[in-house]
Amino acid sequence: MSKADVVIGCFYGDEGKGKVIDYLAAEADIAVRATGGDNAGHTIQVGGVKYAMHLIPSGLLSGHTTGVIGNGVVLNPQVLLEEVDNLREHGYDVERYLKISEKAQVILPYHRLLDVALEKRRAGSKIGTTGKGIGPAYCDKYERVGLRVEDLYAADFREKLAELSASRTALLKFYDPEIDETDENLDFEKLYRDYSNFADRLRPYVCDTVTLLHKAVEEGKRVIVEGAQATLLDIDFGSYPFVTSSNPTIGGILTGTSLSASDIGNVYGVIKAYSSRVGAGPYVTELLDETGDRIRELGHEYGTTTGRPRRCGWLDLVALKYARRVNGLTALAVNHLDTVGKFDRIKVCTAYDVNGTVTEDFSTNVNLLNSAKPVYEELEGDFGDISACRRFEELPGAAQDYIRFIEDYIGIPVKFIGVGADRDAMIVR
Ligand code: GDP
Ligand code: IMO
Ligand code: MG
Repeated sequence: MSKADVVIGCFYGDEGKGKVIDYLAAEADIAVRATGGDNAGHTIQVGGVKYAMHLIPSGLLSGHTTGVIGNGVVLNPQVLLEEVDNLREHGYDVERYLKISEKAQVILPYHRLLDVALEKRRAGSKIGTTGKGIGPAYCDKYERVGLRVEDLYAADFREKLAELSASRTALLKFYDPEIDETDENLDFEKLYRDYSNFADRLRPYVCDTVTLLHKAVEEGKRVIVEGAQATLLDIDFGSYPFVTSSNPTIGGILTGTSLSASDIGNVYGVIKAYSSRVGAGPYVTELLDETGDRIRELGHEYGTTTGRPRRCGWLDLVALKYARRVNGLTALAVNHLDTVGKFDRIKVCTAYDVNGTVTEDFSTNVNLLNSAKPVYEELEGDFGDISACRRFEELPGAAQDYIRFIEDYIGIPVKFIGVGADRDAMIVR
């Protein structure tokens, strides 16, 4: 039996999970995605080529790792097929290395339209979703009407699709009475044609990933799980309602793959040496000043999926401790140490002051988060150019101190340190 290592985002996404997965994939047989859909955007920079992975597990980029799209994923076939084509053009043997769970839920055009219509109705209290239809697709799943990948091949596919399409179109019209009824996305015959075509093209990849993963673990194969989104975007443990519609935390990793608790080995939590958030909702260490702007520019903090400028701020150790507790993190990956090292002084949040009460315990209560003021400790920056460092000892003293400060506070080791965007720009301890 082998143990599966898991990579989980600790804050609001975009911590550089893709890069850590890419590193681990060099030694992995299987990389599996458990939750979310193409709201994720995982960037891997391989020499001059930049890959933005939305649905296909980043691990596939190793060239020898099987990428599994697990049962917990909501899958937009069109987006997936575009990714398949792109990887093929770059020489990847996708036919051989991609597997899709027959139980994954299928995103349909009205999921995206509903997502956008619902956001429009929220007016002053928008969530800032990616508009990919993620929430509505998970709603269909939990209403037990959603289409699974296996349904695309069932004898009654047309009937099921027709029923769903009729009820969801009615819902869409309810939420957006001004919707253009001639929109081709609402044309049932086109929908049926498109999805029959997608089904044909996806067929070679579809399989029983549950048995595949169980056997892999039993045969001692090396499995890694590629978390998408992050702890504070979790539907239960995040800043609800400003969250995504799945459980990107450790529980969702299990239910989204079929791995059991005892199958799990290392749980790596990924953070940046600062923080960012894209979309609305509370963010205690957000910097709305020129320091925040400078982090954004230095870190190139613009969304991989939507291109939106990300909100930026200092590292929040209160939130990180919470992520350690929720996920049972065993070690950390700290990316963008190079970026934070460009500041001469670096602040780190070590407590929240909530109306005069100082606490180190995170709470997902939105009112509490909105009134929390960060209590900072200031550390020395100015690391110089660290992008060529490959061993911890090569880092300047101030950079080592920064990492040790995080370790002392959180109580688990920092195993990976990102010193640049490129695949190799990483220190592994
Ligand atoms: P993910 O969604 O967690 O995989 O993260 P994203 O790919 O959305 O965002 C992380 C961004 O930071 C990407 O543009 C990466 O190329 C970049 N990145 C990751 N690690 C580092 C690092 O250590 N230093 C620098 N400068 N960039 C990094
Ligand atoms: P990766 O895997 C950052 C955010 C959206 C929005 C909220 C709900 O790249 O880290 P949704 O479309 O999921 O209903 O949007 O969640 N969000 C992400 N933010 N990185 C992601 O993924 C995200 N996936 C969703 O911006 O605030
Ligand atoms: Mg991302």
